Amino acid sequence: MQSLQEKASRLSGVAREDAFAIDDGTNLYQKLGLQTFIDLSTNFYNRVYEDEEEWFRGIFAGSKKEEAIQNQYEFFVQRMGGPPMFSMRRGHPALIGRHRPFPVTHQAAERWLHHMQLALDSVPSIDSDSKIKMMNFFRHTAFFLVAGDELKNQKQGVPCKHAVSK
Ligand code: HEM
Repeated sequence: MQSLQEKASRLSGVAREDAFAIDDGTNLYQKLGLQTFIDLSTNFYNRVYEDEEEWFRGIFAGSKKEEAIQNQYEFFVQRMGGPPMFSMRRGHPALIGRHRPFPVTHQAAERWLHHMQLALDSVPSIDSDSKIKMMNFFRHTAFFLVAGDELKNQKQGVPCKHAVSK
């Protein structure tokens, strides 16, 4: 069976080695620093919470913006070579599980990535090489979540073998 990682590569068009280039060579957290990640997540969520597309903005309606910003930058810091800020406060990232309540469709992934590309372009301390590495990671991860969401929907659609047909 195709793994979720393979499906993420196919759906996103980002090869595994490009998605995880954030782990090669330069430590992005050391290069960019904490404030850059705070600025990136703040810029991203300002866009999300002001999105003119109500269907997308609405996905975040149950979350407080300040908390969403902190959750996100702590995860980025941890994933990009910094201290385990996210896990210390929230536990294991388990991103598929944490996104389970939300409709992570192809369309939602593209909208998320659209805002993230604009946010990356708006933070001057992010150089172009880091930007490419981060975007490849984000794109692959977004479609990894889409693949997880599709699995969830498939499971819901398949009745349990003990189900009594009516
Ligand atoms: C594909 C489209 C995506 C949608 C629709 C989506 C939606 C959401 C929503 C609604 C939340 C809750 C906000 C909060 O309370 O923190 C959330 C949290 C989060 N998302 Fe996403 N997300 C997407 C992609 C991503 C990607 C690509 C990443 C990582 C690269 C990511 C990482 C996170 C993290 C770390 C949290 C915080 C989880 C927690 O602390 O419980 N998301 N996302």
